[in-house]
Amino acid sequence: MSIEKTLILVKPDGVRRGLVGEVISRVETKGYSIEALRLLNADRALLEQHYAEHIGKPFYEPLVEFMMSGPIVAMVASGNRVIEGFRSLAGVTDPTVAAPGTIRGDLARDQGTKVVQNIVHGSDSPESAAREIQIFFPK
Ligand code: RTP
Ligand code: MG
Repeated sequence: MSIEKTLILVKPDGVRRGLVGEVISRVETKGYSIEALRLLNADRALLEQHYAEHIGKPFYEPLVEFMMSGPIVAMVASGNRVIEGFRSLAGVTDPTVAAPGTIRGDLARDQGTKVVQNIVHGSDSPESAAREIQIFFPK
């Protein structure tokens, strides 16, 4: 069985606030390995692919605008059960109620914006991880 991989994004709010190192540190301190990493400005076409499951939802357009508002950092992390493990490190979607100790719980809060800004993205299944890694790290 090959070691699991996940796609992690530090969203524009995280990059703007200088939290890239903090996110990487939490991933590494937990014991996962960083396999690939890049800083990029995501365009609409790329985000349309990445967020395909959310097209048509009320928060889709604000989400895309937010994700284009500044550079993001994409990385691939690996380790046994890293998909579940990083989701646990990140905390729940809404930073107001994300548990203290998690990335979102410790580092983010509701800013009154149209879409919730919550520092990180993490793939939610092996299928999503494979799909999302291809989008950000095409071979
Ligand atoms: P992510 O994909 O970023 O890891 O976050 P997630 O799985 O916890 O949340 P998901 O449901 O996949 O939503 C993707 C991102 O869209 C924004 N969102 N806003 N009701 C809302 O205002 C709402 N729902 C989702 C968040 O930025 C969320 O991370
Ligand atoms: Mg998601």
